[in-house]
Amino acid sequence: MKDLLYYYKKAVSKGFALGAFNFSSLEVLKAIALTAEKLNSPVILAVSESALEYMGDEYVVENVKIIKNCCKVPIFLHLDHGKSFEICKKAVDLGFDSVMIDASSLPFEENVSLTKQVCEYAHAKGVFVEGELGQLSGVEDNVDVKENHFTDPLKAKEFVKRTNVDSLAVAIGTSHGAYKFKGESKLRFDILMQIEKCLPRFPLVLHGASSVNEKYVDVLNKNGGNLKNAKGVNEELTKMAVQMHNIVKINIDTDLRIAFTAGIRQSLKDNPENFDQRKYCLLGQKYVEDVVAHKIKNLLNSQNKT
Ligand code: G3H
Ligand code: 13P
Ligand code: ZN
Repeated sequence: MKDLLYYYKKAVSKGFALGAFNFSSLEVLKAIALTAEKLNSPVILAVSESALEYMGDEYVVENVKIIKNCCKVPIFLHLDHGKSFEICKKAVDLGFDSVMIDASSLPFEENVSLTKQVCEYAHAKGVFVEGELGQLSGVEDNVDVKENHFTDPLKAKEFVKRTNVDSLAVAIGTSHGAYKFKGESKLRFDILMQIEKCLPRFPLVLHGASSVNEKYVDVLNKNGGNLKNAKGVNEELTKMAVQMHNIVKINIDTDLRIAFTAGIRQSLKDNPENFDQRKYCLLGQKYVEDVVAHKIKNLLNSQNKT
């Protein structure tokens, strides 16, 4: 099977991106993989440290193995926001295809040395590594970062050279969670272009890319939820980042959480007598499938790119 780097290179040259969709339940895992299979799209299954702890190592690894065997499309298991060498090593040893070492909150030299250490270990076992330079605001693994610190293009070039990372997450104005912007959403394409000048054709990653679709926020709120003034990234901006730039991986978690919760809330409200989770989770799963299909077709352009 072709590896992740093959698809990153293909994505740079063909103007598409791989969706890195986060999951923390079997329903969401199935929704992502089955939709990618239906649309013949390569896909990345992303698991955060806390999601791995929530589901359990064996549950994740064994279920992903089964899913990979059932599907013909390339499916890659990725550790999202690994904060230490130990968690990245654990993911490598568990058989993940790719790990992210997120040392972006550390001073530059410490970020370089930790990322380099992870690369040396992971590369020796054929596992790809994503690093991050710059910081996104928002809540991530219960850590609340107040401000964006955009990626410095010259430092990005030095970072890649010294660490040997395979891809780099950049901070250009996106953030984690459901409250990304107060007014219009804005991305710093000027910074992105400078990064690309310093790192020609190098695979770049966009975190915090959920669009927080009003349709699902409305369903959620109409069925007992309380998500007020939520705002994501305008999808036209994300599309530009994918089609005209070297963004090859787009991270989406919040959009799936909102869709899944909206479906469950709606089903429970419509069927108050039901207490069978297989029934109410099914609508959540269906909404997640719809969101993943929409992203693959309209945003990532990854349909039929296997
Ligand atoms: O970027 C962070 C992801 O949304 C994962 O969040 O640590 O709550 O699973 P989590
Ligand atoms: P969102 O919160 O915008 O979905 O971002 C998810 C993410 O970056 C996971 O790493
Ligand atoms: Zn992220």
